[in-house]
Amino acid sequence: MMQSFAKISDLRKVLKNERMNGKSISLVPTMGFLHEGHMSLIKEARKKNDIVVVSIFVNPTQFGPNEDLETYPRDLEKDSILCEKEGVDYIFNPTVNEMYLDDYATFVDTTSNITNRLCGASRDGHFRGVMSVVTKLFNIVNPDRAYFGRKDYQQVAVIKKMVNDLSFNVEIVDCEIVREEDGLALSSRNTYLTKEQRIDALVLSRSLKEAKEEILKGERNKEKIVNGILDKISKVTYSIVDYVEVLDAKTLEDIEEINRDVVIALAVNIGKPRLIDNIIVEV
Ligand code: PAJ
Repeated sequence: MMQSFAKISDLRKVLKNERMNGKSISLVPTMGFLHEGHMSLIKEARKKNDIVVVSIFVNPTQFGPNEDLETYPRDLEKDSILCEKEGVDYIFNPTVNEMYLDDYATFVDTTSNITNRLCGASRDGHFRGVMSVVTKLFNIVNPDRAYFGRKDYQQVAVIKKMVNDLSFNVEIVDCEIVREEDGLALSSRNTYLTKEQRIDALVLSRSLKEAKEEILKGERNKEKIVNGILDKISKVTYSIVDYVEVLDAKTLEDIEEINRDVVIALAVNIGKPRLIDNIIVEV
């Protein structure tokens, strides 16, 4: 039987017991409103570990003042059913107060260039919030493995860097992007899209795929690739581009021309939601 805990101490108690019995423990951190993207991480965790813990916590410290913290979609009941079906052992769903006491004052941050670009440039303090909450979750669960999706490509890179720099005793497993049949990357924020915008949003995955094909055919000019994508996105009525970038796939650093493995990453508002997507191109 799956169990849910809102208290850190309660979760720690059962996990201490599991650990004493020699069980390997995995953690899948989420903000809930689970979809097939999240479920793919849970399935991977289920395959390799004795115990699967899923955390469901809409983390306020990673949202900016003008972002969608208040309206972020939540459905704990449905999430629990999905987790139970997938054989999750424990859900951890703390309140904001349980995670952040009134006098909370400690954060984890990085000076690495990894956070300068992409979402780090437009979402001030976002990765500081992510690193801090993931650190807390690691300290609470003490997992052997933790699972993250490549949909948030920069997030995985930031977490890996943090784990390495701070010698966390956890293996970070990154998992493929899960997409709808028509290409749209699954996201809890897709629920904000109107019917028309849902169709418009396809421009993101389509333009990334076409850009990849152009590079594989021999295009090496970064600007041409970026402008090609921008052109396609600009044809969509309610689109506002945050960024479209071609970066070194490993370091996330800027490149002059496409002469190594790259990630093409973008963030675009389609109506209300800010959607992100990316594709790796190995050259
Ligand atoms: P959330 O957006 O709920 O995502 C939880 C995990 O699911 C992340 O690792 C994310 O990359 C993965 N994921 C989301 N959509 C995916 C998709 N279409 N394919 C594959 N994986 C997907 O990311 C967060 O929450 C938070 O920042 C968190 C790490 C929980 C810290 O608060």
